[in-house]
Amino acid sequence: MSSLQIQHTISGAREVIRQWLASGESVVLVPTMGNLHAGHMSLVHRARALADRVVVSVFVNPLQFGPSEDFAAYPRTPEQDQELLDVADVDLLFEPSVEEMYPDGKEGTAVVEVPGISDVLCGAHRSGHFVGVVTVVTKLFNIIQPTVAVFGEKDFQQLFIIRRMVEDLNSPVQIVSVPTRREDDGLAMSSRNRYLSPEQRPVAAGLYATLQQVAQRVQSDDDALEDIEDWGKGQLEELGFVPDYLSIRERHGLASPSSSDSDLVVLVAARLGSVRLIDNLAIDRV
Ligand code: PAJ
Repeated sequence: MSSLQIQHTISGAREVIRQWLASGESVVLVPTMGNLHAGHMSLVHRARALADRVVVSVFVNPLQFGPSEDFAAYPRTPEQDQELLDVADVDLLFEPSVEEMYPDGKEGTAVVEVPGISDVLCGAHRSGHFVGVVTVVTKLFNIIQPTVAVFGEKDFQQLFIIRRMVEDLNSPVQIVSVPTRREDDGLAMSSRNRYLSPEQRPVAAGLYATLQQVAQRVQSDDDALEDIEDWGKGQLEELGFVPDYLSIRERHGLASPSSSDSDLVVLVAARLGSVRLIDNLAIDRV
């Protein structure tokens, strides 16, 4: 028998959660923009073990899309999402409208900003994107009041910025991260993969292959990291990508690595035709 409840309003969700909290049950939140795939579902499965009640939010957040980005075209598959969440034993699907979340429009709303780190890497190419992300995540935390929330390492910079917001604003929410789930050929699962043409699809796997080659070179060559980054971008261009960036960073602070840093990560964003893909890979420098 299905136990999935669906709420479209903030007051409706609050009422369900109020009853859970009153009976001493804990709540975990998995924020998503829907069009759920196996990557999202690995977050949901992790969430199941973290609290008594699992809440998944599905909200395509207009605040995090730029004017020339794909807000209108972003895939929305509400029935399919509901079915997946039902089977996964989720307790509450919170699926608000844009008007419910931004009743005065998105221009006039208060926002939450994590400065500096929001303006580099993806932030340098998507102005305002991370303010939109952190603002909606803060709103969702305030509405759902979870003790723990689950995010994917696929969006490595997003995860880092959300952790920073939680720390700086003394949010009581614990952040748990889940490794990137990949297709058999290594392509990170993403809602945007469905935009890839049959010709582009095998090429897209070259993004992860390039990250693996970059990692290998960092571990085995004496070359400067800048030279390895340039080489990686060149590889992507040869495959037909237009890279936004390919950057090797220290893994815990996302700063440019010093020669003594051993915990590194390579982050990439690149376009294949009109599809923008991102990925990252941890590198342990020996
Ligand atoms: P969305 O792209 O729908 O992703 C929701 C969550 O699923 C994020 O934490 C993301 O990192 C995780 N995820 C996506 N693909 C994954 C994969 N292949 N393996 C593991 N985890 C994966 O990220 C967003 O939505 C939004 O920015 C959001 C945080 C919901 C705020 O609007």
